[in-house]
Amino acid sequence: MVEYYIPKWEEIEEGILTISERMLSDDFVPDVIVAILTGGVIPAKLMSDVLGIKSMRYIDVKFYKGVNSRENKPIVRAVYVDNLENKKVLVIDDVSDTGETLDFVGNIIAMFNPSLVRTATIFVKPWSRKYPDYYYKVVDKWIIFPWDKWEIVRENTEAPVDKKERFLEILKKLRKNS
Ligand code: PRP
Ligand code: MG
Repeated sequence: MVEYYIPKWEEIEEGILTISERMLSDDFVPDVIVAILTGGVIPAKLMSDVLGIKSMRYIDVKFYKGVNSRENKPIVRAVYVDNLENKKVLVIDDVSDTGETLDFVGNIIAMFNPSLVRTATIFVKPWSRKYPDYYYKVVDKWIIFPWDKWEIVRENTEAPVDKKERFLEILKKLRKNS
């Protein structure tokens, strides 16, 4: 049986503030934030508000088909990136598991000639082949973020999340109407 780690919103905020403090103590303030869609978009929005960075770019990558089930390699669905030349870039995602997504995105960003690229994720798995430059906590379980709980319940209705009954009702109605 899969064991889950379910961070509360409070822990997400703590993670983003801790990462921001570490970046500042390194004198690293990026010019641009690149969010890895979809899981990185809310961490990136939080980070952009903490640091006051309005310049955001996005790379849409999908690697996982379900809990612990991956494609052979990350699949790039779209790259919404421009004007990174000579810029300091922070790449943000919610978690680094194998580390492949961050590697993959790092290669894409390098083609845009930034002056510096650093990476940040809230969580990292202990087996990740490359740790991000900044992270909040090492976790060895499958993480259910507040922003992907319904995606996980769709796959496994036993997943231990709150408000599940209401979601399952919605799902039932949607399936009946389709
Ligand atoms: C998850 C997560 C990271 C990536 C980490 O994304 O949000 O982007 O996997 O895994 P890795 O370190 O093994 O590459 P996912 O592919 O599930 O897409 P999503 O963010 O759209 O849910
Ligand atoms: Mg992702």
